[in-house]
Amino acid sequence: RKVEALVDRDFAIGETDRRLFGAFVEHLGRCVYGGIYEPGHPTADARGFRGDVLALVKELAPTIMRYPGGNFVSGYNWEDGVGPVEQRPRRLDLAWMSTETNQFGTNEFMDWCRAAGIEPMMAVNLGTRGPDAARNLLEYCNHHGGTAWSDLRRAHGWEQPHDVKFWCLGNEMDGPWQMERKTAEEYGRVAAETAKLMKWLDPSIELSACGSSSRTMATFGAWEDKVLEHTFDHVDYISLHTYLNNYAQDTGAFLASPDMMDWFIEEVVAIADSVAARRRSRKRIMLSFDEWNVWYRTRRRAADRVKPGWPVAPHILEEVYTMEDALAFGGACISLLNHADRVKSACLAQLVNAIAPIMTENGGPAWRQTIFFPFADFSNLGRGRVLQARLDSPTYAATYYDPRGSDDHRFPLPETPYCKLSVVHDAAGGHLTIFALNRHLSEPMPFETVARGFKGLVLESAHQLSHDDPQAVNTREAPDRVAPVRLGGVEIAGERVGATLPPASWNVIRLR
Ligand code: AHR
Repeated sequence: RKVEALVDRDFAIGETDRRLFGAFVEHLGRCVYGGIYEPGHPTADARGFRGDVLALVKELAPTIMRYPGGNFVSGYNWEDGVGPVEQRPRRLDLAWMSTETNQFGTNEFMDWCRAAGIEPMMAVNLGTRGPDAARNLLEYCNHHGGTAWSDLRRAHGWEQPHDVKFWCLGNEMDGPWQMERKTAEEYGRVAAETAKLMKWLDPSIELSACGSSSRTMATFGAWEDKVLEHTFDHVDYISLHTYLNNYAQDTGAFLASPDMMDWFIEEVVAIADSVAARRRSRKRIMLSFDEWNVWYRTRRRAADRVKPGWPVAPHILEEVYTMEDALAFGGACISLLNHADRVKSACLAQLVNAIAPIMTENGGPAWRQTIFFPFADFSNLGRGRVLQARLDSPTYAATYYDPRGSDDHRFPLPETPYCKLSVVHDAAGGHLTIFALNRHLSEPMPFETVARGFKGLVLESAHQLSHDDPQAVNTREAPDRVAPVRLGGVEIAGERVGATLPPASWNVIRLR
């Protein structure tokens, strides 16, 4: 049966925020060292920034970059990472059981962001530290000069303020794995007090409070409610984190799982708006989905997360992504697009080597993992007004297994549409872009979209990502095994766009 979609030029979900297309650099494994930064690498510039990685980052096109963690930030002394490099201390990092050399810190990150044309997003340590360290860091980064912290930045060689606008109040403070985890009450209080200080210091900044580290946390829901009760007047965003998995080796369920990101977003919106309603407030807290990806192979076994002997920049969390991972990942991109009205910021976790779209070899080449391609499409082609779509697709039943959080969870997904879809109208650029995932593992999908109000559509480009082997991966030796190819057979008649989507495929049809 044919999949039919209907969109109308006048009916939009919302405009995508530039920050929806972000990613994440944490001091974790080889994300920084051997990833974005490797002095002595043949492509590195005078600052140690790898040129081959920068070129791939530009192609990937993330818009905002979260830093420096993640779990790492909850034990980080930001002062360790500034000032003369040779005087910076080596420290034990209890998040990833590594030695942190602090050769790369806040100022280097700001320079890297500038070189990449990306907005920085900073997180402050609300684990082992608190409001005082947070406001000092903000003063160091954003104050023009004439105070101890801002003059210290200038003395370190950065005369102009970094003017960082987006700040995260800690990371995953609900998780037992977090250094100085807090109850919702404890975190809500400290986040509110930190937010007050930070906004008094620089009223131009935007703040994000920690939501749940996954929808499966036992405290999910109650956590958001309590945290927002405390922070509502002081913050602009609440965060969400999701890592999709295929532990069960059930590809149908895995590909259905991005639909649970839709539910998660809608549930967090409902909670945030109920806090607003209790206060008779018209303020709307927006969502920052500041960690999302596929991650499971290097997650469960301690040996994939920790290497003995406190190594520097160990090979940890180096997930090698398959074709089917790219499909689930594409589904997540569609979930984010389809909530553009409330998800105003999001970060793919992470950027290089550790659960990342870009892989490198120390001293060697860099290459694109399978998930690179849906993200590049999402960011390069997904800007604009996301249109409401009425979708008529055959469905299938699946049960998704998620062993994260407090218990093993099994989520029934009884009516998963084979097609997952988002349609974006970029009025300024004159484009209409269809993102369509075919989740049928063996059958091609006849597909038609009627785009009401779009007369005289012309095909600009169409491509698809699929592979005969769902486990196909890109490696150093075969970096292009999985790569997008042209989608042929797209037919346009007036407002109708027709195509046949290959089995288990990610598709992008771009029209003018
Ligand atoms: O992205 C990897 C880790 O996942 C982050 O450090 C943490 O916030 C989450 O648990």
